[in-house]
Amino acid sequence: MVLQHNITSLLVAFTIGMLMPCTMGSSSSQGTEAVNDFSGLHWGYAMRDTDELPPALWGKLYPACAGKRQSPIAINSREPRQLDLLLRPLELLFYDQMPIAGNWTLIDNGHSVQISGQFGKRPPSLRIRRGNLRTTYVLTQLHFHWGRSDAMGSEHVIDGKRYPIEVHFVHRKETITDDEASKDPMGLAVVAVIFEKSSAGSREMPNPQMEALANAVRLIKTLNVPVTVRTPELRLSKLIPDDPAYFQYLGSLTTPPCAESVVWNVMKTPLKVTEQQLKAFRALVSRDSSTDREVADNYRPLQSLSGRAIHYHPKAFGSHDRRHNPMEALSNAVRQTKSPNFPVTIKIPNLCLSDLLADAPTYFRYLRLLTTPPCAESLVWSVRMKSVKVTEHQLYSKRQEKVEWKVRA
Ligand SMILES: *[C@@H]1O[C@H](CO)[C@@H](O)[C@H](O)[C@H]1NC(C)=O
Repeated sequence: MVLQHNITSLLVAFTIGMLMPCTMGSSSSQGTEAVNDFSGLHWGYAMRDTDELPPALWGKLYPACAGKRQSPIAINSREPRQLDLLLRPLELLFYDQMPIAGNWTLIDNGHSVQISGQFGKRPPSLRIRRGNLRTTYVLTQLHFHWGRSDAMGSEHVIDGKRYPIEVHFVHRKETITDDEASKDPMGLAVVAVIFEKSSAGSREMPNPQMEALANAVRLIKTLNVPVTVRTPELRLSKLIPDDPAYFQYLGSLTTPPCAESVVWNVMKTPLKVTEQQLKAFRALVSRDSSTDREVADNYRPLQSLSGRAIHYHPKAFGSHDRRHNPMEALSNAVRQTKSPNFPVTIKIPNLCLSDLLADAPTYFRYLRLLTTPPCAESLVWSVRMKSVKVTEHQLYSKRQEKVEWKVRA
């Protein structure tokens, strides 16, 4: 029961803001018993000799951590068999809003730096929806994972590359509690953004949002003591890349209790981070017993995909709007054709034929005939393996038009 209680407490602490001290799990009154009694240990990332439970053993205290839909994972955008392209764009709502009085709250909880804000009821708080999510999710907090050196830090690995820092925007289903969310297979939706380091001597202006955050992180002096900073220039929308390409898969929290309740949305395009900004994060410490330990290298090792599908929204349609789906533009045009053999000229500025070719270049090749008379045997067919999405509505309008033509003929 003691163990059960600790798991629940840690879970709540994680999902509602990690405000609890991190030593919660470590007060076992049973003392040392057997060699494989892990109940007195608190989890951590260290591989070397510490009194922390390393990632490979998290499952001993938190059974879900040994599950089959764990995070993070490696994503290979050039492996079409892993990817399903039928993913709609993600929609961010109110991401330009400031919290009340521009106040953000930051806390070093020993495992990460976590940021949250109080948003008024009107306008409502930050949300995400669409992107194959069945409902709206509301932002609860964001936090970072980073490394001591540039070659490590991000949790997700994209096309074989690990980045120096990754941010997680954690959202919960709008209509349920944190506790319910941890038991719902799609209770949470996390948007992950990776950052790559600006090259030394780069003339680019540092990302002003990361600059504001790094300055705020430098104000954190004490573990588990929240600091409130007025950062009116911080807009979370600017911490999400303009390119809406992203990967979606079903996974878990990347920290104990590793609840398998997360729809992951990993943005494909990295944003930029500077050496100085990274230093602000790398300076954060976590005090356990009497020693100061850096929080850095707080990323979990890669987990096995175990047959899960990764959905991919491959490219910008120019906006997050459904109307920019190429089949939508085409079906609207088809509706305007009225008579057979009577061409209509229609302006469709948002139609790019390349959008009609699924992004994965895989195709079958064969030599055959035209599919209509005279069926000339003069064709090289290239059949794309991946399909493009079409809605019921788009199909319906075409069928109706065809029926009308037949009646008139
Ligand atoms: C904003 O934070 C300041 C301290 O930095 C505090 O005095 C003030 O009350 C906060 N305002 C709101 C509306 O929370």
